Amino acid sequence: MTKKKVFSGIQPSGDIHLGNYMGALRNWVAMQDEYQTVYCVVDLHALTLPQAPSDLAEARLRTAKILLAAGIDPQRSLLYHQSQVPQHAELSWILGTFTSMGRLGRMTQYKEKEDKGGQNLGLFSYPVLMAADILVHKVHAVPVGDDQTQHLEFTRDLVERFNSRYGDFFPAPEQITPGRGARVMSLKDPSSKMSKSDPDDDSRILVTDAPDAIRRKIRRAVTDSGARIAYDVERKPGISNLLDILAVFAGDAVDDLADRYSGAGYGRFKETVAEAVIEGLAPLRRAFLDLEDREVERIMKMGALDARIQAERTMVEVRKMIGLSG
Ligand code: AMP
Ligand code: TRP
Repeated sequence: MTKKKVFSGIQPSGDIHLGNYMGALRNWVAMQDEYQTVYCVVDLHALTLPQAPSDLAEARLRTAKILLAAGIDPQRSLLYHQSQVPQHAELSWILGTFTSMGRLGRMTQYKEKEDKGGQNLGLFSYPVLMAADILVHKVHAVPVGDDQTQHLEFTRDLVERFNSRYGDFFPAPEQITPGRGARVMSLKDPSSKMSKSDPDDDSRILVTDAPDAIRRKIRRAVTDSGARIAYDVERKPGISNLLDILAVFAGDAVDDLADRYSGAGYGRFKETVAEAVIEGLAPLRRAFLDLEDREVERIMKMGALDARIQAERTMVEVRKMIGLSG
């Protein structure tokens, strides 16, 4: 039986943090056994915010290195930089002609970034390029954190429009979101998600952070009033976020952990969380420090070669369907 195909992408716009790891990357690695997996460093998406050329060049290499260090295996997964496969941008243009401006203007991610003053056409049409990423590989599913739900719905709407005009061609991709860790919150403000763009470095743990940095950040994490450890997202969002993190790294159920540590006090509980995270990320950090830039570059080039072939297969069909071939 042929394996189901999945695609996912990550922006090279800052270091990969615990939210990316728990919401996405950890699953990307696990899915390699069961699925045909395609993963992409979406460098064209990163251009929607101003980037110094040298920073972008470094960030896309670092991001690729972290993916490899986390266990993305180029023998089993297709891994490449989005900009090296021009079919993404071509399909994005075509899909854009199926997209209403009103629909794009209502996307929350756009509205948030627009509020911060970062308007540009790329940011506005960001979801169309994301749909193209997914559809150019005709995948069945997309493993992402729950902040991407609206983008996935948008992609399925585009599929419906395209298919109703040209016949059943693109599969409607389903979203795969982890049960726990789908939304990791900021260590400094547990009401907002952990994010690469938060100006406060202490708000996030990077997967490449040294053990001391992890200890310090967790020690300083905002907790709630009271002293009891309990899972209560409404009243104890800070402690609940730490419990979610511990559950993933310890492999235990949140309720069991809450019971076990209920009277431990915040200080000791935080130490436990920090040590579990440090231990869980240690293999990644070691592999990251060992990987040579040249090796990463080689793997990404090979990936792009393969991805171009696969994406071109889809585009040959698409061009034919819409009247652009011959
Ligand atoms: P990005 O950093 O926006 O490129 O996101 C890459 C992946 O990480 C996407 O699948 C996101 O859904 C996921 N992700 C980002 N931030 C978080 C978070 N705080 N919690 C869980 N998943 C996240
Ligand atoms: N928009 C995603 C994010 O911000 C990144 C992304 C781009 C993506 N293209 C994708 C994720 C395709 C899944 C599939 O996290």
